[in-house]
Amino acid sequence: MTNSKITVLDFKRKKEKRSKISMLTAYDYPMARLIDSAGVDAVLVGDSVGMVMLGYDSTIYVTMDEMIHHAKAVRKGVKNAFLIGDMPFMSYQASDEDAIRNAGRFVKEAGCEAVKVEGGMDVVSRVKAILFSGIPVLGHLGLTPQSVNKIGGYKVQGKDAASAAKLIDDAVELEKAGCFGVVLECIPANLAKRIQNKLSIPTIGIGAGVHCDGQVLVTHDIIGYFDKFVPKFTKRYADVGTIVSKAIEDFKTDVESGSFPDEDHSF
Ligand code: KIV
Repeated sequence: MTNSKITVLDFKRKKEKRSKISMLTAYDYPMARLIDSAGVDAVLVGDSVGMVMLGYDSTIYVTMDEMIHHAKAVRKGVKNAFLIGDMPFMSYQASDEDAIRNAGRFVKEAGCEAVKVEGGMDVVSRVKAILFSGIPVLGHLGLTPQSVNKIGGYKVQGKDAASAAKLIDDAVELEKAGCFGVVLECIPANLAKRIQNKLSIPTIGIGAGVHCDGQVLVTHDIIGYFDKFVPKFTKRYADVGTIVSKAIEDFKTDVESGSFPDEDHSF
């Protein structure tokens, strides 16, 4: 457990020291507090909020206003972890100006310390523009859910030699552009290892094997609070959904039988 504030500088330091980086998603104040007090290095207000909190069937529909709403709540619960806002679909794709304005909103309105963008060489100009504004950028390669319609589904990426080579080139370009780290989603572990070796910035894996410099997962997945779709790479550490369902059923039964409220809960 750590008690000191994590900054962007810690990412490279941790890679140099071969000390693994932990990152989890949060979308609200209570979860942010729990993650932060466990000493997790970084909290990502992911656009996965669209699927696990807002009921959309993809992240495509998430708006900037929704992201800011959730990021503001998370900010209040995070003291030490590094807080990253996930730029939603169409908040940066159209222009460098959009990218700067919306990254700026994460920092100015929600108190985030960095933003994440999906894409490789195609987003280098956006990365540089955001960095020019003084905002650190985390890259995201491999399975990039905002491009699900182009990729043709949620599939493992970089399985053939050509697409693997392209991912390596993309990672190098993101490092050159100034990213402080790169998320690698759903790629073969050996490819992630090659990228990890090639970069001096950390790789943060999600479904990318053990060789990455850090790991990120969707918190709702690891606690069993979202079961509509459970990716193979997720490890379930708790079954909160079952506990919550049981509590709700017990409350209903107590109300219907008249055993709640009892004397202890009355004035
Ligand atoms: O939105 C998200 O939660 C993410 C992570 C899973 C990397 O992008």
